[in-house]
Amino acid sequence: MNATDRKTRKLHVVTHGCQMNVYDSARMTDLLRPLGYATVDAPENADMVIINTCHIRERAEEKVFSQLGRLRQMKEAQGGNMMIAVTGCVAQAEGEVLAKRAPFVDLVVGPQAYHRLPELIAQAHRKQGVVIDTEFPAEQKFDHLPDDAAPQGVVSYLSIQEGCDKFCSFCVVPYTRGAEASRPAESVLAEARRMVALGAREIALLGQNVNAYHGEGPDGSAWNLTRLLDRLAGIEGLERIRYTTSHPNDMSDELIDAHRDNPKLLPFLHLPVQSGSDKILRAMNRKHKADDFRRIVDRLRAVRPDIALSSDFIAGHPGETDADFADTMKLVRETGFALAYSFKYSPRPGTPAAGLPQLEEAVKDARLQELQALLREQQNAFNAGTVGLETPVLFTGAGRHPGQIAGRSLWLQPVVVEHETDLTGQIRMVKITGANPNSLLGTLLDKEKIAA
Ligand code: 5AD
Ligand code: SF4
Repeated sequence: MNATDRKTRKLHVVTHGCQMNVYDSARMTDLLRPLGYATVDAPENADMVIINTCHIRERAEEKVFSQLGRLRQMKEAQGGNMMIAVTGCVAQAEGEVLAKRAPFVDLVVGPQAYHRLPELIAQAHRKQGVVIDTEFPAEQKFDHLPDDAAPQGVVSYLSIQEGCDKFCSFCVVPYTRGAEASRPAESVLAEARRMVALGAREIALLGQNVNAYHGEGPDGSAWNLTRLLDRLAGIEGLERIRYTTSHPNDMSDELIDAHRDNPKLLPFLHLPVQSGSDKILRAMNRKHKADDFRRIVDRLRAVRPDIALSSDFIAGHPGETDADFADTMKLVRETGFALAYSFKYSPRPGTPAAGLPQLEEAVKDARLQELQALLREQQNAFNAGTVGLETPVLFTGAGRHPGQIAGRSLWLQPVVVEHETDLTGQIRMVKITGANPNSLLGTLLDKEKIAA
């Protein structure tokens, strides 16, 4: 097949894992569109299926293999006429193993090689066996992906940084996504402008370590995230900006101050801390103490009193005692999170912590449950605390039921309002009237649209 062959082909993309994978899947779709690939909602009768995988925890990986089993049957039923590509972090980490375990797969492509997809597909058409590309090429994939991205909607995601140099003991990201690399500032700004022209009102900047951003500026010097945020705030029509995910050690004073000074930055921050025990933080190679995190939170709240905090926690890292876990519970209780993600420690092949003596599953399970109960309580309390507020809501589309519209608060909570007119893309004042565990109810206030 070549670029001039315009026969329409059906492409089905399955995305696992983080927002960066969602973004990457969209870019792969953009890349294949000019080759005649149009996306379909189901894998049946697809000419090509891409499974964009996640390797962060064991369960994410298992899902991929069970999905591949089903695809194999489908492919056989179709007489072998389905090209199956495995992309993402499982592809990167397990390349050869995957090709052996699932030889019916045609392509295995790591996250840094997506821009080579058309060439790899052509190779797979010519060749028997699995085509594998898990290299970390010198060129950045973002510079080689097409500019004509399909619109993502009112809330759009933009990858600005990839990879990680932190090497936390438990984490596969430095191995699967490689070293930290930041996109040049101009390329980010240009993509943000395109997104806004296509209807984006909120942009979430993505990166595995996004606050370590150090992209090349137009003057040749390295720009930090604060500077980039400052320039993004100048884009007319863009109303809200946020960034995820961050490491406490890259939370500079300047960036903290941006939460006061940058008018478009949302009062919301996802800042994973993983544990509240200094001993475990050391074992995790996090290179900060629990009190460093507390100080960052205090400073953020001093400059932006309404900031809502979100975090990630791991229960049952090797070496975690009852006392260490109690320190995590204490940190959670003292801090108060609006939202949090918590995981049972899952040993990942090739990471330092996987080689240490492991805790019993039952201990990990019990701790995770206790932690999740507390975090759920805090989330409910946070949501309940917004009832009665009059606050701007960015409307993103229709609600689940007829006559409803849905949007997002300043703190990322889904808000549902009874209203007949479509307000997609508008920011309107809403009085919050009720709170559910995962969303809020509100009524539209008869006030002018809030400008940025
Ligand atoms: N086990 C459990 N959770 C993990 N995370 C990363 N690696 C592991 C692992 N091996 C969690 C961390 C990280 C989030 C994205 O996933 O909390 O912040
Ligand atoms: Fe993984 Fe985040 Fe640690 Fe990097 S900073 S190794 S992505 S947990």
